[in-house]
Amino acid sequence: MLRLTDVHLAYGHVHALKGVSLAVAAGEIVTLIGANGAGKSSTLKAISALHPLRSGAIEFAGEAIHALPPHQVVARGVSHCPEGRRIFYDLSVRENLLMGGYLLGKKELEERLAAVLDLFPRLRERLAQAGGTLSGGEQQMLAIARALMCNPRLLMLDEPSLGLAPLMVEKIFETVLSLKKGGLTVLLVEQNAGAALAVSDRAYVLETGRVTLAGDSASLARDERVVKAYLGG
Ligand SMILES: Nc1ncnc2c1ncn2[C@@H]1O[C@H](COP(=O)(O)OP(=O)(O)OP(=O)(O)O)[C@@H](O)[C@H]1O
Ligand SMILES: [Mg+2]
Repeated sequence: MLRLTDVHLAYGHVHALKGVSLAVAAGEIVTLIGANGAGKSSTLKAISALHPLRSGAIEFAGEAIHALPPHQVVARGVSHCPEGRRIFYDLSVRENLLMGGYLLGKKELEERLAAVLDLFPRLRERLAQAGGTLSGGEQQMLAIARALMCNPRLLMLDEPSLGLAPLMVEKIFETVLSLKKGGLTVLLVEQNAGAALAVSDRAYVLETGRVTLAGDSASLARDERVVKAYLGG
């Protein structure tokens, strides 16, 4: 469904991605793990066209998407839930959600709103509350719900568990699994490598802008190098 081939990306002379190649098949949960600064968020930004590539190619559903503007990548079915949630603090929960569906017509917007509120009933109770006054966990739910408003085929989640209490982390990962059961494809970026490997089918390890290990998540979770570097072993 998604394929990155030899993707290079730079911020000025900071060469953040140095030839990243990876693939995500339809229906999979794929995790990117790696230390701070490894290039995980940059990989997601490259896919959603938030930062131009220096070279390489990105294909989604058989079409090159790396030269498209961001809203057209969204229109193809790729949704990005960014690191740090980036919800609109002064807007209500409802308004935040409607922003996520800005490409939809009125009828579809209402249908999507109902669907994401079914997934996160907690948000339904808080539709009128300002986004900035939600708890951290609720803000993360809102960020995911907003990313789902556009009814994506591929959902990219950047550090969804960051800063959350264990119970909320569990809830977020349960949600990711239920989305997969519903047919969604997920590309997950996580510092919490243990939890991410437990829910994902396959994983890639990024180190300073390069993929250094790849494989099915269960094997990587047992791999000595992964255990040492990312699982605190
Ligand atoms: N806007 C930017 N301008 C300059 N350098 C940047 C910018 N964004 C990222 N970088 C650099 O690119 C490299 C990769 O950053 P990236 O955010 O992709 O890492 P990451 O793996 O997501 O890290 P983290 O786990 O800390 O979120 C880092 O060296 C970072 O400093
Ligand atoms: Mg990051």
